[in-house]
Amino acid sequence: MSRRDAVLARVRQASEQGRQYRVHLRDVPDGVGYIGAGADLCQRFAAEVAAVGGQAIVVTDLAAARERLLRLLLIEAGAKSAIVWQHELLARLGIADLLAGGPKSVEELATATDMHAPSLYRVLRAAASLGVFVEQENQVFELNANAEPLRSNVPNSLRDIVIFMGEDWHWEVWGKTMYSVRTGKSAWGHAHNEEDVFDYFRKRPDAFEVFNRAMTSLTALSAKAVSEGYDFTGVKTLVDIAGGHGRLLTEILEANPSMQGILFDMPQVIEGARESVAKTNVADRVEFAPGDFFVSVPAGGDAYMMKHIIHDWDDEKSLTILRNIKQAMNPGGRVLLVESVIADGNNQDFGKLMDIEMLVSPGGKERTAAEYEDLFKRAGLRLTRILPTRSAYSIIEAVSAD
Ligand SMILES: C[S@@+](CC[C@H](N)C(=O)[O-])C[C@H]1O[C@@H](n2cnc3c(N)ncnc32)[C@H](O)[C@@H]1O
Repeated sequence: MSRRDAVLARVRQASEQGRQYRVHLRDVPDGVGYIGAGADLCQRFAAEVAAVGGQAIVVTDLAAARERLLRLLLIEAGAKSAIVWQHELLARLGIADLLAGGPKSVEELATATDMHAPSLYRVLRAAASLGVFVEQENQVFELNANAEPLRSNVPNSLRDIVIFMGEDWHWEVWGKTMYSVRTGKSAWGHAHNEEDVFDYFRKRPDAFEVFNRAMTSLTALSAKAVSEGYDFTGVKTLVDIAGGHGRLLTEILEANPSMQGILFDMPQVIEGARESVAKTNVADRVEFAPGDFFVSVPAGGDAYMMKHIIHDWDDEKSLTILRNIKQAMNPGGRVLLVESVIADGNNQDFGKLMDIEMLVSPGGKERTAAEYEDLFKRAGLRLTRILPTRSAYSIIEAVSAD
């Protein structure tokens, strides 16, 4: 284990065990840790973080620390929209790809992207002030590690996700958050006059393609962790329900050479999936199944996986999907949800942020372990295990309750 990983492990362990000190660590080694604890412990921790190249602000006056954090969050919130827009613009223009071969002047970048050079300069300068790209002399810019994920076609690229986050049709929905909080309903219909987000996409193939590419990139970040986080022994046929372009299914098939896969999704998505799956070396073990999970799902699977599906829907719609799966699965079959499981406490939690996207966009929700248990029970299933993975997601396993 590297020193950095050892420090991170200690920090997680400390906060999980809820010992007398709590550690709120935003990032190591690039970020800043906020520690409320005894002074000598803080100093020791700060030294460890510094040894791995990080920076920890040690605050022993908790009241002052809280105030400082609040101010920081308020400033961040104000700046956040500017940052999202700026990153989306740079991602869409492909600036990181243009700089992959070496530094370039703003004039060159503006010519290649057909932009107004002085304005592009101001955006790049602001990005560089946040550590994304580096400004050299004479308005020349260089790629750096923080800007690398804005490149396309690199492992762990975030470009498609950033573009999705900044699309007008997505941003407008976030602009209606007040509506969702007041009514408890998705803001999608309110912003776009459509039944739901997938009706919107069904009628707009270009937007659907942006969404699908973003989902594939997001899934790529956790596919290995999920594949390694579950023992698939005994699963001869794995059905990925609404598996998008097949990123997770193909990862699992690679790791399990005798397994067959069925990729199920809406017909439009399956068309795109054929192309993506054909590029992998497990294509001969994937069967494609277009359909609608509110009507039925393919029969004969030993396990039915759903990543980021149940969180899209309210309980009633989720129950329809789960009941259709229960009816279709082989005797002894398992349901495997890949989702964030919301935990108690105030620790920073990706799931709690994603939950707001679920509130405003598809109208679903992230759930606690108890809520999953209850949902399964109502669908005639029994929750057997929740397995955390090395990603933000857990694998929630269920079997038939009969
Ligand atoms: C949030 S994405 C998750 C995709 C994939 N599981 C992943 O994690 O990358 C939701 C998926 O549900 C699919 N979907 C939505 N409504 C559906 C329906 N009625 N029947 C089948 N699939 C549907 C979408 O096409 C999309 O691929």
